[in-house]
Amino acid sequence: MGINAGVWLVGANGMLGQQLAAGLVGENLPFFASDREVDICDPRALADFARNKRIGWIVNCAAYTAVDRAEDEPDAAMAVNAGGVENLASLAARLRAKLIHFSSDYVFAGDRPEPYREDDAPRPLSRYGVSKWQGERRLAAAGGRYFLFRISWLYGVHGANFVHTMLRVFAEKEKARVVDDQFGSPTYAALLAANIARLVAVDSERFGVYHYCDAGVISWFDFAVAVQELALQAGLLDRAIPIEAIPTSQFPTRAARPLRAVLATDKVRRELDFQVRPWRANLEDFFREKARRGGPEEPPGAPA
Ligand SMILES: NC(=O)c1ccc[n+]([C@@H]2O[C@H](COP(=O)([O-])OP(=O)(O)OC[C@H]3O[C@@H](n4cnc5c(N)ncnc54)[C@H](OP(=O)(O)O)[C@@H]3O)[C@@H](O)[C@H]2O)c1
Repeated sequence: MGINAGVWLVGANGMLGQQLAAGLVGENLPFFASDREVDICDPRALADFARNKRIGWIVNCAAYTAVDRAEDEPDAAMAVNAGGVENLASLAARLRAKLIHFSSDYVFAGDRPEPYREDDAPRPLSRYGVSKWQGERRLAAAGGRYFLFRISWLYGVHGANFVHTMLRVFAEKEKARVVDDQFGSPTYAALLAANIARLVAVDSERFGVYHYCDAGVISWFDFAVAVQELALQAGLLDRAIPIEAIPTSQFPTRAARPLRAVLATDKVRRELDFQVRPWRANLEDFFREKARRGGPEEPPGAPA
């Protein structure tokens, strides 16, 4: 089985968007790409872009991802993460295109030990989380056929993310301080993108809400320790620096973050046959990919 209409990759220049572009190429799926120049907050710009194209799938990687900044400009976050998603969802419904959208573990409060399942009730702690949750609701209300993937701690070789930030800290500082009381699971963008591209390639109709992340639950401190260890092995760092484990109370951020928002991935493995790998195996892949590309990529800004 294969798809007989084109794919539109929205937010193609972002961390996940760039990875998805590679994933679609890997599946030999031609696609139209857009980013800022086709503002998802502008329904007319979206309709103009879609005109005279046969679009069977829309994959939305565009989002407002500045979690802390969203506390000061909630309207901007809401415009993109809720309004923009609503515009895309209505257009997809009109075009009868299937829509793939991404949300976040930050829609959950993270105040319980068990992993979150797809039908657990969101209770976001931050303005960013509220905007992503609103986007989910508007997506559902638009009446189209969609896949919604909630993911957590996204990182990859493109753009700003925790791993790139830590690599810079390890290279430039004498000591690092990382919180050890926030737990979750990283999501390696390359494997997520490969899974998504496969879903499009088989023209899946198993619509719904899914949770996806790498296997294993760790703290940001555990993640940082592994990043330094593997970066040393890969020859990306020439010395180790001490990493101090600190509580969240010693690292205040503008936006509150869930302390334990672990996503259960049973459904995505069972229903969509997605490959889910241990976080450390994926981090090793990340460093192989880094080595192949030749050295650290300087990310443009602060991580989401
Ligand atoms: N990063 C994480 O840890 C994480 C965790 C869970 C879920 N997610 C979700 O995963 C998805 C992908 O995240 P990401 O980290 O890849 O995001 P990203 O790197 O910030 O990329 C988002 C892209 O969308 C563009 N964009 C922003 N506003 C737009 C608009 N109005 N119209 C068109 N394009 C616009 C951005 O342009 P500019 O760069 O110019 O703004 C950027 O190129 C998002 O839905 C995000 O909420 C991310």
